[in-house]
Amino acid sequence: MFVDRVLSGMRPTGALHLGHYHGVLKNWIRLQHEFECFFFVADWHALTTHYDTPEIVEQNAWDMVIDWLAAGVDPSQATLFIQSRVPQHAELHLLLSMITPLGWLERVPTYKDQQEKLSDRDLSTYGFLGYPLLQSADILIYRANRVPVGDDQVPHIEFTREIARRFNHIYGREPGFEAKAEAAVKKLGAKRAKLYRELRTKFLEQGETAALEAAHALLEKAQNLARGDRERLFGYLEGGGKMILTEPQALLTEASKMPGLDGQKMSKSYDNTVGLRDDPDNITKKIRTMPTDPARVKRTDPGDPAKCPVWQLHLVYSDDTRKQWVQQGCRSAGIGCLECKQPVIDAVLSEMKPMRERAQRYLDDPTLVKSIIADGCEKAQKLAEETMREVRAVMGLDYR
Ligand code: TRP
Ligand code: SF4
Repeated sequence: MFVDRVLSGMRPTGALHLGHYHGVLKNWIRLQHEFECFFFVADWHALTTHYDTPEIVEQNAWDMVIDWLAAGVDPSQATLFIQSRVPQHAELHLLLSMITPLGWLERVPTYKDQQEKLSDRDLSTYGFLGYPLLQSADILIYRANRVPVGDDQVPHIEFTREIARRFNHIYGREPGFEAKAEAAVKKLGAKRAKLYRELRTKFLEQGETAALEAAHALLEKAQNLARGDRERLFGYLEGGGKMILTEPQALLTEASKMPGLDGQKMSKSYDNTVGLRDDPDNITKKIRTMPTDPARVKRTDPGDPAKCPVWQLHLVYSDDTRKQWVQQGCRSAGIGCLECKQPVIDAVLSEMKPMRERAQRYLDDPTLVKSIIADGCEKAQKLAEETMREVRAVMGLDYR
């Protein structure tokens, strides 16, 4: 069966905060209702940059899964797993490395960017160069066609598409491809077969991409086809051979509008975060001590919300009436800063209350988390193994 499949990973590099929630997690939570979703802990990816601190990987991984669950990622809707528990990712990474030109990896923009940005780390390793290829293996092994990522990761998805294309080009050729493809067309049934042929001709002769898309939709709905035949028909549309690996699309995640406590982007490296599991007193204190418009030295000095990070939080949490109350009260010195902060404190606390409660359940009984992950890993392994069987076969490693 062919369904839209979403996959995304997160590196376990530390406690998650409201920036992650408003940026990535809310998006995942929405997607889990719409698509078949796979979310995983990219622990091998964490080691590419943090190989010298292995002691933090495992604890961060469990904590991160708890944060996902706390935020509302639902294990009955989405499959949650840990990358290194599905060793097939490593096998696919290795096999793909055989066909990956070094220049492609060296040209991925994050390679040089990260080396410059994280100049305190030694990133001149083989593992770090291979980061995008490992990511390609993560995606291709599930034939995921939609990958939610931030804009910094788009080049990695583009790279993945190129790898898939190269793989299909090299290994999708089989003896008698045309005849097999023609036989598969007949299996579509007379009506669909006719439509398939028309669309294929339109695409091949006139380059109509709309026809190609329509043909893809037709194949996606043809659920009685065996996988091999489906791959042939996808490949046959564009001429060549079988489409063994699926080219994914990036699903661009909008950058989080969540500001940090100092008005900069919320980020661990700026030390301006509200952690998803911070306790309420601590959060209250953090917000009460946030800087405000420096012009408001005394309570009677008027201020300008545009110069105040608290206003950024009102933009996330307040309705129009309250925003007006802030604008007026601030400019006229009608309200004090603590008064202005209180509704934000209340909103953050009430947003986080259900998260803290959900997290507590998992903290009280860690076996719950372990069993969610064990189930997810098992499901992931099954799918990954299906792809690997085919990849091994076309790469001459069948041994049956
Ligand atoms: N590189 C991603 C990041 O830093 C994490 C990641 C690893 C990922 N494998 C993936 C994301 C596969 C999407 C799909 O955010
Ligand atoms: Fe900032 Fe509100 Fe104080 Fe104005 S009143 S400076 S918006 S905290």
